[in-house]
Amino acid sequence: KPRVFSGVQPTGNLHLGNYLGAIRNWVKLQDGHECIYCVVDMHAITVWQDPADLARATREVAASLIAAGIDPKGSILFNQSKVAAHAETAWIFNCVARMGWLNRMTQFKEKAGKDRENVSVGLFAYPNLMAADILAYKATHVPVGEDQKQHLELARDIALKFNHDFGIEHFPPPEPLILGEATRVMSLRDGTKKMSKSDASDQSRINLTDSPDDIEQKIRRAKTDPEALPETVEGLETRPEAKNLFTIHAALGDESVADVVAAFAGKQFSEFKKAMTERAVDKLSPLTSEMRRLLADPGYIDQVLKDGGERADAIAAPILAETKRIVGFI
Ligand code: TYM
Repeated sequence: KPRVFSGVQPTGNLHLGNYLGAIRNWVKLQDGHECIYCVVDMHAITVWQDPADLARATREVAASLIAAGIDPKGSILFNQSKVAAHAETAWIFNCVARMGWLNRMTQFKEKAGKDRENVSVGLFAYPNLMAADILAYKATHVPVGEDQKQHLELARDIALKFNHDFGIEHFPPPEPLILGEATRVMSLRDGTKKMSKSDASDQSRINLTDSPDDIEQKIRRAKTDPEALPETVEGLETRPEAKNLFTIHAALGDESVADVVAAFAGKQFSEFKKAMTERAVDKLSPLTSEMRRLLADPGYIDQVLKDGGERADAIAAPILAETKRIVGFI
């Protein structure tokens, strides 16, 4: 079976972008693949995290993943800091990747902003750790949203350079899997900005923990434009907010955007928003209540992560030993 790896940061609530762009695909891929899913707590601390918040978010994200349909027995679910191979492989990759490669990472430029002197070294080296996450297991398939594409190209470059430098086909270059209609879900307040955990406005995103009332209110207030709904998919191209809402609605219902356009052609936004709210609540509220149920048992999530960490380590340890041997570590 092809090996799949992917990760999500425990830096607060998961939102609809994480769900539609990534997690839903993780669930589907469990059929026919060997899946390793990781809550990347080591990536999270590249920006300051309150320790108690980090621990709570790690458990909450793990619970959300299980509630969304990740099977902690059939798949491997764990938090990154449990398996030493991530950090050890990342150090080697710090010595393989070039400064110039990392300087081109748009996510670093966005996150660092103007204050480059004051961000952590970890934030700069972040993509090397991400490459290590994947290659520590020699995973070949990586389901992610559109925004991770550049990081995955870097992971490929690192795999190829390592193989070239040491003259051995050790790491398989991983491939991104960017699947479904909603590979880039946008903010509800601004159709040109990505839906993001770090957006200051909670109105910009639908969290997987939002109540039906929150969801209703956020969709009702979501930015739109004054025109009637379009007759064709092309009609969405110049209307980023409408396009985003249609894309979300389509993805939630496993429909194409074209079908949604056909169903609402010429109607009012208010009517569409009602249908969208219904669909979002139907999809998300079972997930939210299941997550709450899982978190009510304090030992359960920790046990899942411990067991997942041990199974992940069993795969990674021999690969790490081989990597070290190739580098010349005795
Ligand atoms: P993170 O935690 O930001 O997001 C987790 C996943 O959700 C996707 N995503 C989105 N998809 C569509 N629309 C959006 N608005 C949206 N926002 C987020 C992301 O693309 C991602 O797939 N660096 C990664 C975590 C990571 C990782 C890895 C991923 C660490 N190591 C190894 C794959 C392989 C990140 O910060 O994702």
